[in-house]
Amino acid sequence: MQALIAVLAGDGIGPEVTDQAVRVLAAIAGRAGHSFGFEPALLGGAAIDATGEALPAATLDLCRRSDAILMGAVGGPRWSGPQATVRPEQGLLQLRKALGLFANLRPVTPHPAILHASPIKAELLHGVDIMVVRELTGGIYFGDKQRSATEAVDVCRYTVVEIERVVRLAATLAQGRRRKLTSVDKANVLETSRLWRAVVERILPGEFPGVGFEHMLVDAAAMHLIRRPRDFDVIVTENMFGDILTDEASMLAGSLGMLPSASLGASGRGGLYEPIHGSAPDIAGRGIANPYATILSGAMMLRYSLRLESEALAIEAAVSKAIVSGALPADIAPPGSAVSTRAAGDAVLAALQSP
Ligand code: IPM
Ligand code: MG
Repeated sequence: MQALIAVLAGDGIGPEVTDQAVRVLAAIAGRAGHSFGFEPALLGGAAIDATGEALPAATLDLCRRSDAILMGAVGGPRWSGPQATVRPEQGLLQLRKALGLFANLRPVTPHPAILHASPIKAELLHGVDIMVVRELTGGIYFGDKQRSATEAVDVCRYTVVEIERVVRLAATLAQGRRRKLTSVDKANVLETSRLWRAVVERILPGEFPGVGFEHMLVDAAAMHLIRRPRDFDVIVTENMFGDILTDEASMLAGSLGMLPSASLGASGRGGLYEPIHGSAPDIAGRGIANPYATILSGAMMLRYSLRLESEALAIEAAVSKAIVSGALPADIAPPGSAVSTRAAGDAVLAALQSP
């Protein structure tokens, strides 16, 4: 097949990790006889420097024309001072909104060979397999904002339609997994959460009778994720809770550098694929960032946007093999044994070539 893939490397370690993912995607295309065109565009701080805007029109245009988008990371201290009028993160939020990417899938599957990298006891991690579905274009991220000298306001708003579509998507995923959905909210305090709960209670028994569901308050969920992570199958939650819980959940997998994500809209086409981690300005440019989350995001792209399941599985198997072979970047390596970003990419390519 032919596919146009927009590559938005972004800031900090973004270019280093997307480089490796592009190498891996190009290799799988070569092996399977597909033709992938990769077209770079500016987003975030890099775009602000070049154009004054975090999401230039040319970038949005390319993304609309593309079959899928690969993104690195955006942000950094250079663009985030109190004086900043345009922030890199705005570019990413605008892009998610403009493309209608309302569901963000963040799988959490600790690799058995690197359980040592997690601060959590290994016995709690065996068999953990969680899919977090984070609502991505609503809630407090996108509500009205106001600021005066003495006060600031962020509005959290959700419509029934916004809740329905992400809950349906999460329940559909649960149907293909262990058929258990945990809906996370703060219904003891927030009106948006009470609406969220009502929608879940209507949709699940009516449309997904085979999927068991439970409600969980977000504070309790934060605790249970660490105490009994194996009990979760699919988690669905609103935008900010999902942002926070997935940084927490990344510790189950050993590092933020291990978690990929897929941001999907109503049609799979044009999805956005990015690691959940940020631009890590403290280590940018040193060639030591972990590229696995971005490479695994490439696998999700093949699965959800390009519908190339066996190629997606091949990349996931190659990453697994690279990890087992000991190609561990600094965030997951025992002291003194870390490999570079590029060497991790090399290990995945080698594994792809000798399956
Ligand atoms: C993420 C990031 C973004 C978010 C930032 C960069 C705006 O933390 O994708 O999790 O909060 O959504
Ligand atoms: Mg985040």
